[in-house]
Amino acid sequence: MNNFEFYCPTRIVFGKGTIAKLPELIDKSKKILITYGGGSIKKNGVYEQVKNALEGYDVLEFGGIEPNPKYETLMKAVDIVKSEGIDFLLAVGGGSVLDGTKFIAAASKYYGEKDAYDYFMIEQNPVTDALPLADVITLPATGSEMNNGAVISRISTDEKLAFQWEPLYPQFSIIDPQVTFSLPVKQTVNGIVDTFVHVMEQYCTYDVNSPLQDDWALGILRTLIKEAPKVIANPDDYGARANVFWCATCGLNYWISLGVPQDWATHMIGHELTAFYGIDHGQSLAIIEPRLLRNQKVSKSKKLAKLAREVFGVNEPVDLKAADIAVDKIETFFNSLGMKTRLSDYDINAEEAAQKIRGRFAKRGTALGEKGAIDAEAAYDIVKAS
Ligand code: NZQ
Ligand code: ZN
Repeated sequence: MNNFEFYCPTRIVFGKGTIAKLPELIDKSKKILITYGGGSIKKNGVYEQVKNALEGYDVLEFGGIEPNPKYETLMKAVDIVKSEGIDFLLAVGGGSVLDGTKFIAAASKYYGEKDAYDYFMIEQNPVTDALPLADVITLPATGSEMNNGAVISRISTDEKLAFQWEPLYPQFSIIDPQVTFSLPVKQTVNGIVDTFVHVMEQYCTYDVNSPLQDDWALGILRTLIKEAPKVIANPDDYGARANVFWCATCGLNYWISLGVPQDWATHMIGHELTAFYGIDHGQSLAIIEPRLLRNQKVSKSKKLAKLAREVFGVNEPVDLKAADIAVDKIETFFNSLGMKTRLSDYDINAEEAAQKIRGRFAKRGTALGEKGAIDAEAAYDIVKAS
């Protein structure tokens, strides 16, 4: 196992009725900006619960943060924070609202000359100070509720880039699985696929003698495969919703990544597909993951074979053959949820997409994956095969 450090200051408040605990979690003296998305929280009762819980607080609101949150929109919230003297941000929504709020938290403390996207996302200057933030998370997918990362898009340049800094951890995250009953099935499935691929990015590399991390990772996959059909068949199944949410949180709270190599190439290629073609994050991953695993099968064969045997119950002694079966089973699992796994399903021309991504990666000198083996040419092959 490799050396590691772990620190997570986020308090997790999990379960039924937990939104009512907001007054125990935020100091009365705070001037709060509630951030939210396109309005789902006003339809499913979450907004009302938050407003009731915060009665007596000094609260302003900023709505309209879109999926794949846009820098152009977020800067309008930064103006409000600065002009109104906001000192606490409460994100109420999915990963996009929370990620967007992390960016607002950083940009609100930035007074430099440069454009904040250039400064933080392109140049990756560290966030040393940020406004305190917390969330009521409404979509199990990103793990953003227990991590310090965010992915922000910029419309004017078709870019979608990630950043990750310690001041961006939420102070607390309220996870009430009941709020997910209202999710459209497409978003439920996006979240399940995102969680699955997060686990793969951290588990499916090469062995460094980390059996506990492996078992945690495979445990998340087994749980997801068991619970996913339940939430699709019965969206109001509280138990299954709770298990899926906890899988999503644990899928990217960094526990399974401790002391092990990580991949993240499926995500990096997927982000480009979203930036160029606007497809959902989960959809982009479902398209790329099977082809990337196939492309990298030899170097990932031990982990893939272990997954085939311990998650899918495959009885195949030859690692390379078991690895092939694992990739087929993963794609079949995605398809069984109604998730499409081909660029053509979205009318995207594979050759054109592959060329665009190769061009961008070549310019950046990209070398992705746990061994840096996925360069612009390999990314071209993967996208072309998708
Ligand atoms: O905008 P509203 O009206 O709220 O509707 C949202 C949105 O349309 C809706 N929704 C959310 N909760 C709902 C609900 N509808 C009904 N009931 C509910 N309870 O779902 C739609 C999608 O929401 P979004 O927040 O975009 O989805 P998700 O949570 O999957 O977040 C995706 C974003 O997170 C980034 C992705 O790249 C993408 O930008 N990621 C963030 C990561 C992180 N911070 O660590 C890691 C991930 O790999 C990922 O890249
Ligand atoms: Zn993801």
